[in-house]
Amino acid sequence: MTIGRFPHTRLRRNRRDSFTRRLVRETTLTTDDLIWPIFVTEGTDSVTDVASMPGVRRVSLDRLAAHVEPAAKLDIPALALFPITPTELRDEKGTEALNPDSLMCRAARLLKREFPEIGLIGDVALDPYTSHGHDGLIEDGYVINDPSVKILTQQALNQAAAGIDIIAPSDMMDGRIGSIRQALDAQGMHDTRIMSYAVKYASAFYGPFRDALGSGGLLKGDKKTYQMDPANSDEALREVALDLDEGADMVMVKPGMPYLDIIQKVRERFAVPTFAYQVSGEYAMIMAAIQNGWLDRDRTILESLTAFKRAGANGVLTYFALDAARLLLEG
Ligand code: PBG
Repeated sequence: MTIGRFPHTRLRRNRRDSFTRRLVRETTLTTDDLIWPIFVTEGTDSVTDVASMPGVRRVSLDRLAAHVEPAAKLDIPALALFPITPTELRDEKGTEALNPDSLMCRAARLLKREFPEIGLIGDVALDPYTSHGHDGLIEDGYVINDPSVKILTQQALNQAAAGIDIIAPSDMMDGRIGSIRQALDAQGMHDTRIMSYAVKYASAFYGPFRDALGSGGLLKGDKKTYQMDPANSDEALREVALDLDEGADMVMVKPGMPYLDIIQKVRERFAVPTFAYQVSGEYAMIMAAIQNGWLDRDRTILESLTAFKRAGANGVLTYFALDAARLLLEG
């Protein structure tokens, strides 16, 4: 283009009509990209709201099939399960995580029976089960790595035996992916997949999730000695490299929106299935603005999820999964 002449490159031409906008669109969000995290609770006939996550509910097992039915109808590929352990079952060591009849295992068996085609993702970490709210075992106020890996490996086997398809360690201990992979293989569970929370930051955005689980008030201190410093990105690539080397099939970056740069780097460097977690705090922020009438609901949901795809994510764990799938269906 010559300076001083009227532009002959006009980028607005392709934006002029819907048909060209559709033709030149670089990324597309589909239902195949969605993973729906759900909270399960003990008791019967129990559906409770999570105050800081409007629209998100904790449901008891007898209500679980009805709760998940819409996701099955919408053909959402996978669910991520989070159990709320009754306080009396939480202890220093997270013993309940190894119970083959834990809420998590019962939920997995029920869902596998009712919805065999939906993939089940099991979060591996001790925080739903410990009286101190940390993801591993504590000694002298410090989360100790190797003994934690041992119990997390047992937890993973327990979940896999109950029918969890994808083990998703979110604990950030060193070496846990290799240990879990070896243990699964030794049990003949070669096909159980591992989605590593490879890059998980010590983030303020998990607050509402901890409310949902009831682990927030219990948490002593913070998780900075095992979750990553939000200021780092080279370290994120080292985490991913190690987890892949140890046998992870897929990796995750978490939180999502404040860390799109990390998603992009991971995808570019490793070209492996990479997932983003649009975490509870992101959901809470967006919902608060929607409820105040400050943001348009449908457009904000779809734009926030499309951004993950554009950054390079293969899929997104999102509390908006049902809403997004419905919006995509309506076109
Ligand atoms: C447990 C775990 C957390 C989340 C997923 N798995 C919380 C934490 O590490 O404290 C957060 C998810 C969310 O905020 O939506 N290790």
